[in-house]
Amino acid sequence: MTNYAIILAAGKGTRMKSDLPKVLHQVAGISMLEHVFRSVSSIEPAKTVTVVGHKADLVEQVLSGQTEFVRQTEQLGTGHAVRMAEPVLAGLPGQTLVIAGDTPLITGDSLKHLIDFHINHKNVATILTAEADNPFGYGRIVRNQHGEVLKIVEQKDASDFEQQIKEINTGTYIFDNERLFEALKKINTDNAQGEYYITDVIGIFRENGEKVGAYTLADFDESLGVNDRVALATAEGVMRRRINQAHMVNGVSFVHPEATYIDIDVEIGPEVQLEANVTIKGKSKIGAQSVLTNGTYIVDAVIGERTVITNSMIEESTVADGVTVGPYAHIRPGSSLAKDVHVGNFVEVKGSSIGENTKAGHLTYIGNAEVGANVNFGAGTITVNYDGQKKYKTVIGDNVFVGSNSTIIAPVELGDNSLVGAGSTITKDVPADAIALGRGRQINKEDYAKRLPHHPANQ
Ligand code: UD1
Ligand code: CA
Repeated sequence: MTNYAIILAAGKGTRMKSDLPKVLHQVAGISMLEHVFRSVSSIEPAKTVTVVGHKADLVEQVLSGQTEFVRQTEQLGTGHAVRMAEPVLAGLPGQTLVIAGDTPLITGDSLKHLIDFHINHKNVATILTAEADNPFGYGRIVRNQHGEVLKIVEQKDASDFEQQIKEINTGTYIFDNERLFEALKKINTDNAQGEYYITDVIGIFRENGEKVGAYTLADFDESLGVNDRVALATAEGVMRRRINQAHMVNGVSFVHPEATYIDIDVEIGPEVQLEANVTIKGKSKIGAQSVLTNGTYIVDAVIGERTVITNSMIEESTVADGVTVGPYAHIRPGSSLAKDVHVGNFVEVKGSSIGENTKAGHLTYIGNAEVGANVNFGAGTITVNYDGQKKYKTVIGDNVFVGSNSTIIAPVELGDNSLVGAGSTITKDVPADAIALGRGRQINKEDYAKRLPHHPANQ
């Protein structure tokens, strides 16, 4: 049977106390809405309709091109929101998944099980439910003495007796599509919040003698609805645990998984070792057998195999196999480090390409530079790339030796095999095979120190 899906994402999320619409708050590196959309995609709906309203343009950007959108200009409740999909879906044969955009932990597998259950039981509506230790805030599933679902009652409308019920509505349902839009015409705002509730259609079906049911999640964690930042942090914790476990199963070692933060789209090869307080964000990839020590922070970077990244930050850059970085290095956006490069203590690289086996061991800044292979940067080397207005490029050939504390003022080029004497200020191109000395000559004044107060002769 054909599947359709409706994602509810029009609300403001008042309890988040945020300018950002609630469903755009992120969990493990992507918005809650994208998490929901990914799970929904696993049931391969023929049409997916996302209901947007509050800051609709912003919300649409996140899923642009991936779903149809309908607008709910006034947020009159979840039932009203679903009705907004009527022009797209009403009258089509098939079944429709309705899901809230603020439940990022529901998995695609659970949605598949929900659909199978719905079909096997020939229901008109099936609710995805869970057993909560603390059901406060959720709609409760009211069943009769035979265990049949009668209706859903919201927290604010629940009697004392109903508030004792631990089975909660996750806000996800499968409906017969045609029957859904018929029933929606009958809901009203006669409740504590004065809203149109999608949950009311369950009671309507039931009163019509139609078959409704509930499929209960084995794991309550999945059902978490994020209404405030406390729940957002809880969702983050659950999602990160899932992500880390999947990596462990794939052969990644974690010293302290609870303190290792990996976004959902990060890829990690086998035999990688991650120490505590490692963060890997965005679309980063880490090659096999690499070691990332405590404090390493990687954003949208591609790291090769057998690298060792020691307590360093790498952003939007590529790092080839066998490279060692750190401790305390910063590889900034637009950089590439070729095979076996070593970038050591307090070195910053920005917008530069560095050739194979080149070494910058200590206290160096390399910006807007194109550096060849087998270059050695002495401690304290600086490429001067900025005159206050513009950035200029430094080009350094292969096998160049740059003595310590050299200042290389761009635009400038150092030819292959050249050597820059320590302490030089380089303002002119250096030809291949040349030695460049750009510093004052040393003068020794014999016996002059004897005139000074520090000298033992004067004590
Ligand atoms: C809803 C359910 C409740 C369930 C809970 C699960 C209703 C009446 N209640 O309550 O039974 O236990 O979810 O998390 O449905 N939205 C719109 N337009 C609106 C109102 C809401 O698009 O006019 C969207 C919100 O953006 C949100 C979702 O619908 O993504 C759920 O709305 P929310 O207000 O969070 O519902 P709950 O009070 O949590
Ligand atoms: Ca909610």
